Order: sequence, then structure tokens, then C-alpha cells
Amino acid sequence: MTLPADFAWGAATSAYQIEGGRHADGKGESIWDRWSDLGNVPGTGDVACDHYTRWRDDVALMADLGLKAYRFSIAWTRVLPDGDGGVNQAGLDWYSRLVDELLAHGIEPWPTLYHWDLPQALQDRGGWPERSTIDAFERYAAVTARALGDRVTNWITHNEPWVATFLGHLEGEFAPGLTDWRAALPAAHHILVSHGRAVTAIRDAVSDAHVGIALDCRPNHPASDDPADVDAARHFDGFRNRWFFDPVFGREYPVDMVEAYRERGRIDGATGEPLPFVEPGDMEAIAVPIDFLGLNYYTSLAVSAPDSESEDTGVPAGTPAVEGHTEMGWPITPDALTDYLVHLHETYGPAAIVITENGASYSDAPDADGVIDDQRRIQYLDAHIAAVEAAADQGVPMAGYFAWSLLDNLEWTSGYAQRFGLVWVDHDTQQRIPKASAHWYRDRIAQG
Ligand code: FCB
Repeated sequence: MTLPADFAWGAATSAYQIEGGRHADGKGESIWDRWSDLGNVPGTGDVACDHYTRWRDDVALMADLGLKAYRFSIAWTRVLPDGDGGVNQAGLDWYSRLVDELLAHGIEPWPTLYHWDLPQALQDRGGWPERSTIDAFERYAAVTARALGDRVTNWITHNEPWVATFLGHLEGEFAPGLTDWRAALPAAHHILVSHGRAVTAIRDAVSDAHVGIALDCRPNHPASDDPADVDAARHFDGFRNRWFFDPVFGREYPVDMVEAYRERGRIDGATGEPLPFVEPGDMEAIAVPIDFLGLNYYTSLAVSAPDSESEDTGVPAGTPAVEGHTEMGWPITPDALTDYLVHLHETYGPAAIVITENGASYSDAPDADGVIDDQRRIQYLDAHIAAVEAAADQGVPMAGYFAWSLLDNLEWTSGYAQRFGLVWVDHDTQQRIPKASAHWYRDRIAQG
């Protein structure tokens, strides 16, 4: 098998899901704090895994697991509590100490600048649908890169722009809870432009920076040869994947989707006219070359012709066997990961690909001896790591794999019910217990 010697074996987390410390050291309010206050987050993130106070122990745990890399996110509201006002040095210092501790344990830090926790002050001024949020993000990226860039090489701008855009601005499930195409499409564009501008800002501050973006994906295929299913799969792919991958790799927005959105009245203007939210230079900014593509992969779908309710998302065909799902209800489809990695390599030719998230939710709990024997998670991880190796064998430049997640944590609007961790967290006592999968992963990393 052909994974490179410097392959980044790691685990991932995000700020809102683990930190807690909602008001600590001058942190400002984020849209997820507000969304939780509105009753949309069972359990709230105010304490979460209390990582904000337990970070030293958590880094020691990572070292015990043999992690070579750790992907975490930085809370914008700790660095700039109002989004674009004064810098909060105490917040930056916390991340600086975390970075030092990681490096002291031989663990490479991989911060993500945006894992969905926009400062509420910026939301109050319109949030991502508002163009000025691009400038605020660019400044936040520059401030953070200048503070940590003497020690941090690997940077990720955004996590899962599709989720931030469409679950947050169209489906209303995630903060800020909007349900408006005419907010969602400008939000997507501004997030993408802010990615490109941040890449440049980070490189200006950090001469040896490696910068990428973590895109989520739902690879898919038509449920049958019926032309209606084939067309539905094309449309679903455009909505779910190509709208983000294409512009990041210099292909602009997919023409078939622009036309479909125009026909449905979601974008103004006639065929061939520029999109109303695109300004000169934007597409070039988005397409700035990146050092690696981060890919978050969980599952794939068969798509059949849409019904009236779900015309954009498509309908997964059939109901796979219960054994074939994780507890999120996501079908387990490791082979599709290999195929998709090969497809991305052939279509876009990224310099490197890093799996920035992959993992499974299973609620296996401690037995009478305190052992958590999460064999299904081991099987899931084993199959997906093998899928990554298979892609590498086919020439895809695979550079890393981050298991989601280090800890059982706050799974957004699912609260604490979904457990993705390699490490069990008792959410009452904050006790941590590495699961069987954590021991398995340590051994797997050691094999290389
Ligand atoms: C991804 C998110 C991550 C986590 C996993 C299960 O969409 O990036 O925060 O919620 O799903």
C-alpha cells in the first residue's frame, strides 16, 4: 500500500462542539450560541466537553493515541468578539497555548478558521448573505495567521460551505435558520470568496503555509437508467457538490445549475449575464490555487427523480439494510469514497487530498468493566482507510486522514445523542474513556 511516510494521521473536532467556555476570556456571542438560546440545540454548547479548561489533558490523550496531527477549529468570537472590531488577545492566547502544547507532544496543529460559528454581531449586520462579511473574514484570517503562523503551517479556511450555506440559509435547520434561496446563493458565494481571500491573507502572513478548504460531499449515482433518474442525479450533484468544487478549482459555477436556478426564479438575469452577486475578480479570488483539498466524507447516495417536496435534494432510492447504516441513518459506502477520490483527482487535479473528516456515530457505552467495545466503528474506520489506500494505489495524491471525532461531542441540532468519538465522554462528569476504536486507531497509525 502506498500512503506516504509523512501522511497526516489525525483526529478532528470543532470549537462549538467541544470547547464550552461560552463567556470565558472575553469570548463574543456566535450564531450557534444564539441558535442554542432559541432552543434549537438540545443540551446547549455552553459547556460541551469543557475542552476550554481540559485542553492539556485532552492533548495528553491525543499523544497517548499516537496522533500525528490534530484538526480543531478556532472560534472567530474568541479572536474578534464582535467579528471585525477589537482583537481579544486572551482568546488568541488560548489557541497559542494549545498550539504549543500540541507541538510539545509532536502533534501537528491543523486549525480551521470557520466551522460555522459566525459572530452574532456580523449576523446582525446581515451575515454571509452580506458582502462585507468577506472583508471581516479576511481580516480575521490575517490576525489569526499572524498570531499563530510562526508555529502553524497547515491551515483550513472553511469547513463544509454547503452545510453552512444550505442548512443555515435554505433549510433553516442550522444557525442562522434562514429559509431563502436569495439569501443562500449569495451566502455561498461570499463564503467562497472569503475562502480565496483568506488563502492569500494566510500566505502573506506565513511564508511556508499550506492552505486548503474542507469541502463536504455527497457522491451519488442515478438509482436506475431511467433518464429522469439520470437527470435527477446530475442536478443533485450540481446542487450538493459541483456548486462548490467547480469554482474552487477555477471552473466557475456550473452552467446547468445557473440555468436551473434562473428558471426557478432563484437568481435574476438572463442566460449569459453575470450572476447578480458576482463582482469582477471574484471568480479568480475563489480559484486561487490551494495546497490541498480537504474532503469530509461520510456517505453516498443513489438518486431517483425528485418528487415535488425535494426537487433539489433528490430522494435516496430504496432503504438499505439496517446493518448498513450508522446511527445518523447514513448508509455505509466505503467503495464510493475510492471512486470519488479518483473522480476528484481526474476532474480537478488537486495538488493533494486530505480526508479532513470521516467517522461514524454509534452509541456503544461502557460495559460493567468500563470497556467500550465499539466494533462497528472499527469496521467503519478500517473500511474507509482501506478506501483511501485504494485511491492512493490508483495514483491519487492522498496526504492525510482525520477521524471524526476525537471526543463524543455536541452534534449540532442532534445534541449529545449522537456519539462520533474515538473517546467516550460522560457528559455529566466529563470523564473521558478511550473506546476500543481509539486503541485500534493507535495501532493502525503505528502501522503507517
Ligand atoms: C460534519 C461536520 C462535523 C460533524 C460531522 C458529523 O458535517 O463538519 O462538525 O458534525 O459532520
